Amino acid sequence: MTPSEAQEIEDAHYARYYARKPVTIVRGRGALLYDDKDKDYVDCTGAYGACIVGHAHPKVAQTISDQAKKLIACHGSTYNDTRAHFVSKLSAILPSELNRLFLTNSGAEAIECAIKVARKATGRRKIVAIKGAFHGKTHGALSATWDAKYRKDFEPLLPDFIHIPFNNGETAKETITNDTAAVLLEPIQGEGGIRVPSKEWVALLSDLIHDAGGLLVADEIQTGFGRTGKMFAGEHMGVRPDILCLGKGIASGLPIGVTAAPDETMSTLSVGEHTTTFGGNPVVCASGSATIDVLLEERLVDNAAKVGEYFKASLLRLMGKHRIMREVRGLGLMLAAETRFDVHEILANALNEGVLILDAGRNILRFLPPLCIQVNQVERVVATLDRVLEKEELARLPSSTTASHA
Ligand SMILES: Cc1ncc(COP(=O)(O)O)c(C=O)c1O
Repeated sequence: MTPSEAQEIEDAHYARYYARKPVTIVRGRGALLYDDKDKDYVDCTGAYGACIVGHAHPKVAQTISDQAKKLIACHGSTYNDTRAHFVSKLSAILPSELNRLFLTNSGAEAIECAIKVARKATGRRKIVAIKGAFHGKTHGALSATWDAKYRKDFEPLLPDFIHIPFNNGETAKETITNDTAAVLLEPIQGEGGIRVPSKEWVALLSDLIHDAGGLLVADEIQTGFGRTGKMFAGEHMGVRPDILCLGKGIASGLPIGVTAAPDETMSTLSVGEHTTTFGGNPVVCASGSATIDVLLEERLVDNAAKVGEYFKASLLRLMGKHRIMREVRGLGLMLAAETRFDVHEILANALNEGVLILDAGRNILRFLPPLCIQVNQVERVVATLDRVLEKEELARLPSSTTASHA
């Protein structure tokens, strides 16, 4: 296939649901991706956070290959050794009280399961979510997602979802009442722009929902498995959820979602009430076990904390230099730089210079690199951004110099 053929074929046949970057990625290694002309890119997207241990990690790739030669399909209605192995490894890193879990194929499905469990376990309907939240695009998850651009053409969505303002205690007190089944919370909002709530507000939400007899559901689909420099972001806030939703990178990019809760909560759904054909697939589970091994053996959670701190400090230095940058925020390797203008050109120019970056809304650059990214690779990202921002600044703010805006 020639370099342009892949793009032509996808453009001709694949649904136009993604805003495409004009690049065809054909292989990866660690935090680097390579296109079909063998140009390398530092990957600050991590496949939207789904690559945590690095691209094509040899141990993960070998494990997937070994499992594929043994057994690929195995429905949840029979037991399976590989699934059992993964479930025990996963349970060992989850908070101990969340001792029963269900495996799905995506983050949105993990949320769907959590909504059903929360409603059935409490016998209540009302779910309180947060303005700015993103929980997925299936109908249940979409009901909890905030952004009108995802919702408006599909309404009515599920009833009894209420969104309260981020970091606002007063509205939380008025809204979380004795008929609330659950509060659904991202410990750090991801798609909403890497917004870190105050510890006090998170603690208040936890107290309010528990006093009301409902459940705290944490969506750690983007923050989970070391991304923020702790295994789960809730640890930064001292919060312990009643239901935890996970996904993204725990199978190194193979499709997965996890919903975990105490046995008595999960077991309110009975046999047949919530199943999915591919959930707990042995190849995905094998990949999940190998991913957990690599995460722990290579101390990638510590790397995310250490390199993340360096990355954030470097972005803050850039902010001191470029007036176009307004704010830097985030924890570990979940970082954002808010700019004064649309980031479209910045993303395109960075891509040309060999750095893949995500956005999170119109004017926010988002960084979710694999947790194995090294300091020298961050330096390459920052040097590239420095050049790209300078160019953008000259175009947008022609009278500016790159001197400090302090
Ligand atoms: C916090 C959060 N929840 C849920 C989802 C939905 O996950 P998926 O795209 O796997 O359905 C995402 C995806 O970005 C997410 O970031």
